[in-house]
Amino acid sequence: MKVRVPDMDFSRIRAHWAKVPEFAQSYNAFSTVPAHIEPYLVKVMRRAKDVLDPKHEKLHEDIAVFNKQEMEHCNNHVAFNRALYEVGYKGMKEIEKPYQQDYVRFLREKSLRFNVAYCEGFEAMGSAAAQVFFEDLDEYLEGADEEAVDLWKWHLAEEFEQREVCYQVYKTLYGNGPLAYLYRVGVFIYSTAHIGRHTARVMRYLVAKDRETMTEEERQASIEREKTLKKKVAKASRKRLLAVFSPFYDPGKKKVSPGMQEILDRYDTSAQHSA
Ligand SMILES: [Fe+2]
Ligand SMILES: [Fe+2]
Repeated sequence: MKVRVPDMDFSRIRAHWAKVPEFAQSYNAFSTVPAHIEPYLVKVMRRAKDVLDPKHEKLHEDIAVFNKQEMEHCNNHVAFNRALYEVGYKGMKEIEKPYQQDYVRFLREKSLRFNVAYCEGFEAMGSAAAQVFFEDLDEYLEGADEEAVDLWKWHLAEEFEQREVCYQVYKTLYGNGPLAYLYRVGVFIYSTAHIGRHTARVMRYLVAKDRETMTEEERQASIEREKTLKKKVAKASRKRLLAVFSPFYDPGKKKVSPGMQEILDRYDTSAQHSA
């Protein structure tokens, strides 16, 4: 695991950065998640680090890199989202507020065990989403604007790279027995529903805004495209997310998708300096 600081420029970003506008908008809706969840992940992992025995040296080091990666992801998504507000989608901000507040509340009211399990739930989604993006979406990504594709590829490749950290923290702090397993799966279900409800709200707003200026025929075509896309992404995600329900789930054993390492190398400035 490494910290990479890509120099990304979103000044020319278009909301419809892919040829299927509903596809671009669905990832634009997802982009509001890291803006709020990732600072929360960092705070939870800091708390976990405080109670984690220093003998778990490697895990302490991994958490430090994990936190730096997440802050970089967050910064870039915040910049990307700001560009979306500027091109006409300021209404996203209102939808983001209560979602952001949920994380403030979790930190204030929920146990560390819940928060670590929630983080692991999100990370399990992240590594599955990375596999979907790298393996199943070529037809949607073909010809798409580089700035947006690069943001997602870099972020998701790092999500895949760091996929084990929260899982190992959870396992180290709370064990791997039947109760720890049931709790992990229960909070996983909660986290997917929580994040899913939020992204669905943002997506509804984005496509509703686009459809305001459409003819009835265009609107119907847009609805159809959205349905097809949802089915495709749901099917690709389902088979990957089912693994999380196994008592033997181990994200470390997941296989790297083609193209991920290439992206990680591209943004690895330390390798370029030493080359
Ligand atoms: Fe991230
Ligand atoms: Fe992550």
